[in-house]
Amino acid sequence: MRMRKVLGAIGIAAVGGLIGVTAPMGMSPAVAQAAATPQPLASLDGSWLVVPRRTPGSVAIGGIPRSFVLSSDGRTVTGEFRFNGWVYPIANMVARPDGFAFDLTGKPPFVKMRAKLSAGGRFLDVWIGDEVVGVAPFLARRVTPAELATVERDAPRPDNMTKLPLPALHDVGVKNLAPTPPMGWNSWNVFREAVDDAAVRAMADRLVATGLRDAGYRYVTIDDGWQGKRDAAGVLHPNAKFPDMKGLVDYIHARGLKVGIYSSPGPVTCTGYIGSHGHEKQDAKTYAAWGVDLLKYDWCSASNIYDTKTEMQAQYQKMGDALAETGRAIVYSLCQYGLFDVGSWGNRVGGHLWRTGGDSIEGDLWHAIDFRFDHNGNAAHAGPSAWNDADMMLVGIDGLTPEEYRTHYTLWTMAASPIILGNDLRTMTPATKALVANREVIAIDQDPLGIQGRRVSQDGKTEIWTKRLADGSTAVALFNRGDAPAAMTVRWGGAVGVAQPKMLRDVWRGADLPVRPSYTTTVPRHGAILLRAF
Ligand code: GAL
Repeated sequence: MRMRKVLGAIGIAAVGGLIGVTAPMGMSPAVAQAAATPQPLASLDGSWLVVPRRTPGSVAIGGIPRSFVLSSDGRTVTGEFRFNGWVYPIANMVARPDGFAFDLTGKPPFVKMRAKLSAGGRFLDVWIGDEVVGVAPFLARRVTPAELATVERDAPRPDNMTKLPLPALHDVGVKNLAPTPPMGWNSWNVFREAVDDAAVRAMADRLVATGLRDAGYRYVTIDDGWQGKRDAAGVLHPNAKFPDMKGLVDYIHARGLKVGIYSSPGPVTCTGYIGSHGHEKQDAKTYAAWGVDLLKYDWCSASNIYDTKTEMQAQYQKMGDALAETGRAIVYSLCQYGLFDVGSWGNRVGGHLWRTGGDSIEGDLWHAIDFRFDHNGNAAHAGPSAWNDADMMLVGIDGLTPEEYRTHYTLWTMAASPIILGNDLRTMTPATKALVANREVIAIDQDPLGIQGRRVSQDGKTEIWTKRLADGSTAVALFNRGDAPAAMTVRWGGAVGVAQPKMLRDVWRGADLPVRPSYTTTVPRHGAILLRAF
């Protein structure tokens, strides 16, 4: 956890996405197959600018450039990695048959890196991390010092990079702006930093045209990558991809939708865009003036500066107060990966929902879903305007089977998690649409009682969850996390704590089932059955 936090802290999530990744990836085959003769250390000399290639998130488009500046004395290489406004001195550079290995030092200390020259020394393939936390690849291009200086001169510059005075903790007093778990669409999973005005407008249009708005998906959230620079008065403006933010917000509102935006309590976001540190009131006013309805506030670089739970609470409280002061109804979405038992204080800082872990989109997708069975926050903290957020949906993004998507959606529904789609709605298949638009399933997630369902029985890889609903009925989910189909039985009146119903629905199929003293079915591998017992 410590290591992951450290990596997350310098925004490695943005380079390749490591927050929450547990799958060990090992060294890239490209490194393993490299020539057996070590490349000379002197060939690393010079300036290297991180450029997009391996992952869409590998460079800030309008964000802060990332670079290496290296120099060798024939025996070793020294220099620095400039990352999101921070400078990490490089140490312990060694040439190996498979490339170079070195460490980043500074705060946070100790990050392992590997690199290899490619394309005749014009590119540097870089891997950050190690076999324990996972390895994220990215690419740097050789540039002249003058070229790097120009890029850095024109780039946004974070300010307030050190600790600022923190307010005493108090209760911000949360308004009931999210009586049921927020539903909508967020740009991150599909667009990352490439998100732009046209893409967001297109998604708003698709929410309307597909009927998803009317099924409940109301928030269109622009995640990281919209920010530009602060002007002389400190007001933050969008970057060139968002020429008219107010116009965009009006466009979305005109379609009966709400607008979400993204920032960080640190000076810089996870991907290297300007954050709100020291500008909380100013930024909240800007969002309110644009007409924003939700703020996702992502810890990111704040962990380079603040360490303790109290500091984190104070940082989130600052923005909670700032949002309240605007007088606009803005839903406040905390994103700090579930640290410090956030559900126990999220409401006090003004939060309406809070993430319970790292990013689902990173690493092995089934593993990410499976992980949430055991890590979805403390159900006792959940309720109207207090939601444990299991992260954006992976439905409709390649990497899971149809059964796994259904299990994913069922688990989020039982956990009363916000349901924020992350797929490209322009290319959504009929099967994906049918899955996310199932009104009977949505009704269980959106039940006004706001109870977070819980696991009531477990047998090996199979488990049963129940969730009490406002009309007195109960949702019962049968999950099979195992790799083979499994027969499962619910005995009414037994351990699951649900009396024999008068009526039983198979919710996904929208069909009534015969009522018997028990219900037995075969659940596919990684599958789920969702029942509603009346
Ligand atoms: C991560 C966050 C993601 C996304 C990303 C943007 O920390 O968990 O959901 O917002 O930052 O850089």
